[in-house]
Amino acid sequence: MPTSSKAALDGRPRVVVITGAAGALGTAVAQRLAGEAPTDLVLCDLSAERLERTAATLEHVGGRTVTRVADVADPEAVDAAVSGAVDRFGRLDVMINNAAVLSSNGRIHNLAPEEWSRQLEVTFLGAVHGTTSAVRVMRGQDGGGSIINTASVAGLTAWPYAAPYCAAKAAVVQLTKVAAVEYATERIRVNCVCPGMFESAMSADIPDAARPGLTARHPLGVGTPQDLVGAFSYLAGPDSRWTTGSALVVDGGYAAP
Ligand SMILES: NC(=O)c1ccc[n+]([C@@H]2O[C@H](COP(=O)([O-])OP(=O)(O)OC[C@H]3O[C@@H](n4cnc5c(N)ncnc54)[C@H](O)[C@@H]3O)[C@@H](O)[C@H]2O)c1
Repeated sequence: MPTSSKAALDGRPRVVVITGAAGALGTAVAQRLAGEAPTDLVLCDLSAERLERTAATLEHVGGRTVTRVADVADPEAVDAAVSGAVDRFGRLDVMINNAAVLSSNGRIHNLAPEEWSRQLEVTFLGAVHGTTSAVRVMRGQDGGGSIINTASVAGLTAWPYAAPYCAAKAAVVQLTKVAAVEYATERIRVNCVCPGMFESAMSADIPDAARPGLTARHPLGVGTPQDLVGAFSYLAGPDSRWTTGSALVVDGGYAAP
């Protein structure tokens, strides 16, 4: 049976964990999922205060929302967040590994080793830890589950001056594909969304000098989180029951040329 369909869920809410949930995209995805179907949410991020602000925007849509401070670079913290979801809501239907950090702007020969480590620890291993914790739960449960990683077109194409971020996102794409193949027989689907540039705190950190060039490379213009939530809705829901291992590009045409 497809995961997260009302039929497959026997009328109970789906249970969704989102990392980076206090950010622009994480908040928009939480609002979309909670607004379209009964959904219990565990929102994870670094700041309790920002998480509470996100949770407050969900009060009117129904479903239960729990906030949890968790650094995705810490496997125990991620595991505790997933276990907490299962303890509180009984299972885990959808895991969204969305937290990431942007690289500092620099050509490869100028980058410090710490910049590479930080990208690998947060942007890549954050998705690894979320995937690992999620499959441990989903393997043993009826109906499997859906894991959605937020990758980037930066993982598919070259962004000059952002090599650690590009490499980490490319690794997220490959993690997604391998996990999809490994766990398909256990009804766990694993996909990633590859956004182009959209408005958020992260993209606000892109240096002004790089902005016109990047903007010009998006034929439909720079996006907003609302331009992306449909992709997450699709991958979280029953219509994607035959979709796994995909890198769904939603980028205003950035990667087309
Ligand atoms: N904004 C863009 O143009 C763009 C383009 C492609 C992909 N993305 C991806 O979209 C996702 C969401 O980013 P956004 O644009 O909404 O940015 P954002 O800065 O608004 O949100 C990112 C969130 O991740 C959280 N975070 C950072 N490090 C963390 C950690 N170690 N543990 C837990 N949480 C952590 C931050 O606190 C923040 O709330 C990211 O994976 C990003 O790489 C963004």
